[in-house]
Amino acid sequence: MGHTVPPLKDKSLFIEKAFVNGEFVDAASGEKFEVHDPSDGKLIGTCPEFSAADTEKAIEAAAAAFPSFRATLARERARMLRRWYQLMLDNLDDLATLITWENGKPLPDAKGEVNYAASFFEWFSEEAPRVYGDTIPASVPGNRIYTIREPVGVCGLITPWNFPAAMITRKIAPALAAGCTVVCKSPGETPFTANAIAELARRAGIPKGVVNIVTANKNTVQVGEILTTHPTIRKVSFTGSTGVGKLLMKQSSSTLKKVSFELGGNAPFIVFDDTPDLDGAVAAAIASKFRSSGQTCVCANRIYVQRGIYEAFAAKFTEKVKTFKLGPGFTPGVTHGPVIHGRAIEKVEQHVQDATSKGAKVLIGGQRASELGPNFYNPTVLINMTGDMRIASEETFGPVAGLFPFDTEEDVVRLANKAEVGLAGYFFTNDLKRAYRVAEALEVGMVGINTGIISDPALPFGGVKQSGFGREGSSWGIDEFLVTKAITIGGIANLKI
Ligand code: SIN
Repeated sequence: MGHTVPPLKDKSLFIEKAFVNGEFVDAASGEKFEVHDPSDGKLIGTCPEFSAADTEKAIEAAAAAFPSFRATLARERARMLRRWYQLMLDNLDDLATLITWENGKPLPDAKGEVNYAASFFEWFSEEAPRVYGDTIPASVPGNRIYTIREPVGVCGLITPWNFPAAMITRKIAPALAAGCTVVCKSPGETPFTANAIAELARRAGIPKGVVNIVTANKNTVQVGEILTTHPTIRKVSFTGSTGVGKLLMKQSSSTLKKVSFELGGNAPFIVFDDTPDLDGAVAAAIASKFRSSGQTCVCANRIYVQRGIYEAFAAKFTEKVKTFKLGPGFTPGVTHGPVIHGRAIEKVEQHVQDATSKGAKVLIGGQRASELGPNFYNPTVLINMTGDMRIASEETFGPVAGLFPFDTEEDVVRLANKAEVGLAGYFFTNDLKRAYRVAEALEVGMVGINTGIISDPALPFGGVKQSGFGREGSSWGIDEFLVTKAITIGGIANLKI
């Protein structure tokens, strides 16, 4: 089923290039890769297939820009980020159109993402001038110790397709606020949003070479390799799967780079039977599970419902899912779009088949919506889920809600913590003591109590266990792009000034 893509108000924001040293460029080879609309498979456009050598040029540009950029006043960098923030909002409709076109999420969600993405520029424009050091009492008489925090250097950023704007701004904003320059690898599936954001960087007056965006699809592995091994790069920040994170960490160890990794999740969403507002818990579980058709790292993946309210919860949850409208993201009224590509839908299908073969029952969905296109899967609710099913231990990253019954708090915390990863976890309760107890017992980096949505520029976003380390957003986010220098002044008592 085709759909009509609205024309951009500013056509110059559709750019089929990479962005190096302030200019939009092609790969030296002239090679390009195709980008397709996940809703109907049609060609959107092409982008340069960068090689390692092309990427090195971007690294050199970022290195050349670093000395003068780190020397700019923090207040001036703040103003640049503020201008970039405003330009994101001024071009919100066009950015949202690009997101829906290449990612597939419904247009209202894409608009929400642009606001979220822009909020990182606003937040870090406010952090830039507040990078403080300490004065430390020395152990040696007459000595004084103080610290300053300096930009780590040129950063290699590798970003995913599920938030084509927000995952880029969440990394670039703190890097620039700290005084770093960046080479950012945009996702092969969604390079056009990144290019539009790069064009807005140019218009915001960000100096050339400070922000570089490299594009690649087939060559992603070699671009990732050069970003993680090149001696000039001092910091790598990656959002993506745990498997790729492990590889990039190994590669980054060759030159001991500072690293932060936001990797896969498998979020437990727990509903205790003391929950006063079952409808509220259902709405929150729906929002968490089906955001971006289940394609976020913090989506609920295992929904645990206490046995006494299990049936009522499942019935209400399924009624809500019946109200969804599945379709291409530009169609008015559509609430949920396709998944990104064939590999994604195959995984969803395998998870459902695995669960049903082991005794799960489908309450709604359970198959592809092929009449809409090859990447559409009907939003699905499964009951009678058990711990031996793949969904219990693997992130589905798709629109499938598996509901697991549980009996006691002790049981559910143990089940929740069985996962190898630990990004987000959620629970609903009316018991204050339990709220503190469970929040502290869950082995995750972020907890939502009585809410299913925690994303916020003010939140230190990140995980524990095999979900990685490092925090994005919040005042912690800028630390990832800073190094501390300790300065000792000796013999203060004898100083002759
Ligand atoms: C992610 O899926 O990695 C990010 C989700 C978010 O920021 O809400």
